[in-house]
Amino acid sequence: MTTTTQAAPSTDAWTFPPGFLWGSATAAYQIEGAAAEGGRTPSIWDTYSHTPGRVVNGDTGDVADDHYHRYREDVALMARLGLTSYRFSVSWPRITPQVTADALGPVNPEGVQFYSDLVDELLAHGITPSVTLYHWDLPQALEDEGGWADRRTAERCGEYARVVAEALGDRVPLFITLNEPWCSAYLGYASGVHAPGRTEDAAALAAVHHLNLAHGLAAAAIREASPSSKVAITLNLAWVRPEAGSEADADAARRVDGLQNRVFLDPILHGSYPADVLADTADVTDWSFIRPGDVDVISAPLDALGINYYSPTIVRHWTRERPKETADGHGDAEAATPWIACDDVEFPTQYGPKTDMGWSIDPRGMTELLVRVAREKPGLELMVTENGAAYPDVMGEDGRVADLGRIEYLRTHLAAVHQAIEAGAPVTGYYVWSLLDNFEWAWGYGKRFGIVHVDYDTQVRTLKDSAFFYADVIKGNAVPR
Ligand code: FCB
Repeated sequence: MTTTTQAAPSTDAWTFPPGFLWGSATAAYQIEGAAAEGGRTPSIWDTYSHTPGRVVNGDTGDVADDHYHRYREDVALMARLGLTSYRFSVSWPRITPQVTADALGPVNPEGVQFYSDLVDELLAHGITPSVTLYHWDLPQALEDEGGWADRRTAERCGEYARVVAEALGDRVPLFITLNEPWCSAYLGYASGVHAPGRTEDAAALAAVHHLNLAHGLAAAAIREASPSSKVAITLNLAWVRPEAGSEADADAARRVDGLQNRVFLDPILHGSYPADVLADTADVTDWSFIRPGDVDVISAPLDALGINYYSPTIVRHWTRERPKETADGHGDAEAATPWIACDDVEFPTQYGPKTDMGWSIDPRGMTELLVRVAREKPGLELMVTENGAAYPDVMGEDGRVADLGRIEYLRTHLAAVHQAIEAGAPVTGYYVWSLLDNFEWAWGYGKRFGIVHVDYDTQVRTLKDSAFFYADVIKGNAVPR
């Protein structure tokens, strides 16, 4: 993996640094299916999706894209697009299906074999695997004993990371410990719109810390088991902007920045929790679940930081004169926004272009976030581990999916990445979300993020126009202006 960041000048295209990784990303529960095969036991997402009323249309990941059986076909598609890297996640309940809060339990050889075969298939096609260890599918047995609100989940996660690193580390140059712990903690335990669907603010903040700790423990385990692999974490950092110049709006932005960004960035990059966040949330918890030495584990050096960016987060101080707006950049006015200690904060409705998720489109946030982190931690390699857009794609009679909105979204966001590189941010790769249309969590199959269309009745894959666009970008290592 190169760390060269000098982009060559060109007039009709933004050219990326040589060796820049061009990838796509997926997650196990969203694509694999085969939920009860290969020795896998249920995760919290199996339970959640099978609970009536939780997922739109009652959709579940039971079959999804059937990638578990079709991974060879999917790797062939990646090769056709010219991808140089592929980011996927490992399903913990395939690896140690008998895990309990107190013991990891035996390793399931069938589970390990699946990912080992996938890695071999990628390498055979010249595609570099980037492996996420945890993308939200916690073994249900761990949730039954407290889930992320319980410290033992973090301890087991570290042990699980060691198993995966031992099995795949010889062939995997980059492990990403966690995907978007913000979602796991707040959507899972505060607003309850993700699995396990709990609405307990104190548990959500305990989950924040235990996820940070799980990252640290997993990072240490990977270092030992596979010293040549790089270690990263992926955060969905928010580009938080106060709507107006008032002090009240600025304070709202500070609090949202604290809970979404700094409560992860500070312990991971700087070895301490932000004092203002601890003070703001003092009514919810005393944070006594942080034990001496924890932040040292959490802040062990990182090789890279993954950033997922989709949409800006605009905040406004709410004065009770009108109904609260809750368009928070993470879906429609999600039934309950997960913002703890932010009762007086609202997320005003945005006008202007939006994707099918109702998420505002503003590529400036991509540049701003990359530059922010580059300034905050000089020299830390950065990767865009997710970026993309849902659109209500339709297949024409000619069998073509003309997804112009997605092409423009990708083009402008790639330009924004290029701008960050020019401003000095050491960005080494970009992963489009997603390779395939897939199970979009609480939204089910109705939201299509893929650059490849999936017909869920037949499992036929069709390259959308955006896939051809992306293939051209990869081929030229450049984005048309
Ligand atoms: C991110 C998730 C990913 C996908 C995209 C749209 O928050 O990491 O699994 O759902 O959003």
